[in-house]
Amino acid sequence: MIARGSGATVVDVDGIEYLDLVNNYTSLVHGNAFPPIAEAISTAAQRGTVFPSLHIAQVELAEEIISRVPAIERLRLTNSGSEAAALALRIARRATGRRNLVVIEGAYHGSVPPFTGDEPEVRTLPFGDIAAIDQLIDSETAAVFAEPFLGAGGVIPHEVEYLRALQGRTRAVGAVFVFDEVQALRNAPNGAAAALGIEPDLVLIAKIIGGGLPIGGVGGRADLLDLTSAFIPGRLSHAGTFNGHVAAAAAGTVSLRRLDASAIDGLNSGAERLAASILAAAEAEQVPMTVTRVGSILNLHPGSAPVTTPEDARRNSTGRAALHLALMIEGIYTTPRGMINLSTALDDRMLDDAAAGYARAFARLRPVAAELAGQS
Ligand SMILES: Cc1ncc(COP(=O)(O)O)c(C=O)c1O
Repeated sequence: MIARGSGATVVDVDGIEYLDLVNNYTSLVHGNAFPPIAEAISTAAQRGTVFPSLHIAQVELAEEIISRVPAIERLRLTNSGSEAAALALRIARRATGRRNLVVIEGAYHGSVPPFTGDEPEVRTLPFGDIAAIDQLIDSETAAVFAEPFLGAGGVIPHEVEYLRALQGRTRAVGAVFVFDEVQALRNAPNGAAAALGIEPDLVLIAKIIGGGLPIGGVGGRADLLDLTSAFIPGRLSHAGTFNGHVAAAAAGTVSLRRLDASAIDGLNSGAERLAASILAAAEAEQVPMTVTRVGSILNLHPGSAPVTTPEDARRNSTGRAALHLALMIEGIYTTPRGMINLSTALDDRMLDDAAAGYARAFARLRPVAAELAGQS
């Protein structure tokens, strides 16, 4: 159980310190209790945190996002990425008059139905299978949702051709193409769609846009967002007591302004170096290990077989659990599935410490390396 965090360190209730490579699952891009963000939250707490009206902090956050992400002409704020996904689907259904949703195998768009699976109106595209796109996306499809890379599904990038084919088919059948940048926004100054040359109709954002407080947003084409406008008769109502919470909006604006192109470059090149040092340490200890990486988000996968599909990333849960525990013992706070990500609080010395922690964890696992790599 965690008691507190500061910068790149978290401390548990027993007073044990860990180097934080989780950053609350990519949301704390500046680490824990980043002073400029703490100050923004404190100011909001003193001036009032929630009002039944538009607030300047929400407008500032929206302007920051719209100036960065070309596909976002208008924006509506929610309380989480999950709520943003649900709202985007409602907008798509209203715009198209259709019900069906298409998602990609291994994708994660939050914890609200129908994204939780096993719903009759959801079709799942086999990962990376361009030929299946035309079969499963048709004139009854309301929306197609895609992450630029599988985040929770193992940090596995899609081929750009695959994303382009998805976009093309979605457009051809008159459905709405929703790009889920909840994780990916941190990796490029103008977002993932711009970096990849993708032009989505709607974009989902969350995590770093709240600076560590709960928030989410749906942005995109003005005509689609206008369907939720209070000024349009018969509009799609998007009520919510805390939508776009003022403290979260204030914290998020600081989080984004501090994440300029050079900060993003630093994170991505730090992640590249860390991946290389972890692989070198694994090789030195003869513990077979694979690393996938997109920008500043990485995933370790025990074993030497390439990891290019969601099925590959599900392999070897015993090896993942053993690595997670060995890292915790060595003072490195990671996720059970092997995902880690960088914050701007991590300096070069701390990244060296992280690599050294991985090396010690691999040394612990060395006696059982062959068994761990082969487990299912
Ligand atoms: C790609 C993606 N979409 C949506 C979500 C849901 O966001 P939230 O946890 O804010 O509900 C997540 C959360 O991890 C995510 O990674």
